[in-house]
Amino acid sequence: MEELAMSQNFYRFSRYILVNFDWLNFPFTFIYQKMKKTIRFTLNAQEVAHEIDPERSLLWLLRIDHGLTGTKYGCGMGHCGTCTVLIDDKPVRSCQVTAEFAEGKEVVTIEGLSNTEKLHPVQQAFVQHDALQCGYCTPGMIMTATGFLLKNPAPSREQIIEGMDENFCRCGAYTRIIDAIEEAALSMKGGVLHEK
Ligand code: FES
Ligand code: FES
Repeated sequence: MEELAMSQNFYRFSRYILVNFDWLNFPFTFIYQKMKKTIRFTLNAQEVAHEIDPERSLLWLLRIDHGLTGTKYGCGMGHCGTCTVLIDDKPVRSCQVTAEFAEGKEVVTIEGLSNTEKLHPVQQAFVQHDALQCGYCTPGMIMTATGFLLKNPAPSREQIIEGMDENFCRCGAYTRIIDAIEEAALSMKGGVLHEK
């Protein structure tokens, strides 16, 4: 009787292992673990650390791990600009860089653009000029425009058009976007990212 109970338990245990163990990925599990690395950077003024595959896309780290879904996935190929964030005050397409690229740097997403209760001057100008339609391109437009104005605080209209040339708006709100950036250039007055 005791032997029967033991063999039944053994059978149940073997069955559990066979059904629940990830046999398919087992050979790779050890390799994945070895590939992980601790990446530290500043995200919207907070220190963050991740033990991850350093080759993971920064875009997915922001959207999935941090829930910062303001940064959009558009083409995934570096063409449209919807995924733009600021890294050390420069616009960067987050679909095109790895998490490791952010190491030791300061990353700002649309959610962290303003450090006060008020909208950032570029966000405010987009609202005032109704510079969006569906809004999908807007976070990328605003981050690109902010980085552009930090580098060139008093641009001509032609320079703005050139600076924004590689961000696409499928709704075609371009004229209002350029108007908004012209206004933001005036309100940023010399271009600091945040009010102190
Ligand atoms: S999603 Fe990154 S450039 Fe289009
Ligand atoms: S507002 Fe719709 S894509 Fe630009």
